[in-house]
Amino acid sequence: MLDFYEGKTVLVTGDTGFKGSWLCEILSLAGAKVIGYALQPPTEPSLFNILGLADRITSVIGDVRDYRKLEKVVNDYRPQIVFHLAAQPIVLESYKNPRDTYEINVMGTVNILEAIRKANCVRSFLNVTTDKVYENKDFRNHPFKEDEKLDGFDPYSNSKSCSELVTHSYRRSFFTNSNTAISTARAGNVIGGGDFSIDRIIPDCVRAAVSHRPIKVRNRFSTRPYQFVLEPLFAYLLIAEKQFFDESFSGYYNIGPDSVDALTTGKLVQLFCDIWGEGSVWTDSTIPNAPHEAGFLSLDNSLMRKVFAWDPIYHIKDAIRLTVQWSKGYYNDGLSAAKEITDKQIHEYSAVFGK
Ligand SMILES: NC(=O)c1ccc[n+]([C@@H]2O[C@H](COP(=O)([O-])OP(=O)(O)OC[C@H]3O[C@@H](n4cnc5c(N)ncnc54)[C@H](O)[C@@H]3O)[C@@H](O)[C@H]2O)c1
Repeated sequence: MLDFYEGKTVLVTGDTGFKGSWLCEILSLAGAKVIGYALQPPTEPSLFNILGLADRITSVIGDVRDYRKLEKVVNDYRPQIVFHLAAQPIVLESYKNPRDTYEINVMGTVNILEAIRKANCVRSFLNVTTDKVYENKDFRNHPFKEDEKLDGFDPYSNSKSCSELVTHSYRRSFFTNSNTAISTARAGNVIGGGDFSIDRIIPDCVRAAVSHRPIKVRNRFSTRPYQFVLEPLFAYLLIAEKQFFDESFSGYYNIGPDSVDALTTGKLVQLFCDIWGEGSVWTDSTIPNAPHEAGFLSLDNSLMRKVFAWDPIYHIKDAIRLTVQWSKGYYNDGLSAAKEITDKQIHEYSAVFGK
């Protein structure tokens, strides 16, 4: 599949972030001309800097709320394929700054779609949303399907529901019978090396383990569809390629692990401790009256299976093992070891993908 991307001009918004950096690394290994558009890396350290991506892709630092700048980048580089990942992606941050979250996640989506509509060069557009876009009522215990109601609870989740709706409207209103295929992809909770975000469970685990502190777990009973970072990224690449040639592949897709890999945060952290070793432990740090976060989240991935014959490859233990391998490589051996492990993990995943 990666052969398809060789020589293609691909715009990735959010390239300086965790998933964006992995995606740009894959695309640059595939020989694509990659244009990035994002704010400066959101964390220090960052995967973007560890991989030295600024030297290998064209990275434009800009705000998705700045329509004129975004439009100019699309017009200047005329990408054939666009992956939209730029977002404020943290639930707790969205409770602190709801207006910013809505402006970035909703108007950012409007702006990229508008720039694409005007430029008339993009054949394939994929908006990366999340498993949290669905209305999630208490006591739910079965996976979400794509046709369920979009109405996320907190400002982050809800802004992503809005981002979905904006995409649906643009698709119907402006891109029907056009040369541009439009899809959205709702991925699960992603884990992998190089995520340094605050208030995310695996980065919290790694930070605690390297400094020999107990891991503090906020919501040990909440269930999430955890998956290795390359699972959704290769699925995005697959959708974007298929719809590039055939518009009928465009749609709204769940990209989740199998239901056995939707597990509680407590179980996830225990697996992390077992695999990390070195005496790492966790403690229950439930905060009374903490802002609401959904108790149960799981995605039905049967549409992806049916339409694309797509299958998740790694189970949760593999995902944690690869994350631990990456993190130990980075903390013990530095930047070049981390880059080497990143590329090795991409090559290994790519060799199995599509077999
Ligand atoms: N990490 C996960 O578990 C997960 C799960 C489902 C969906 N997602 C989605 O995947 C995408 C990437 O997430 P991530 O984990 O890599 O997040 P991240 O925080 O690591 O990266 C976010 C990216 O968006 C950019 N950005 C933020 N505000 C911006 C603005 N105003 N203008 C331009 N760029 C801006 C940042 O600079 C960065 O490049 C997001 O859309 C997120 O909602 C993530």
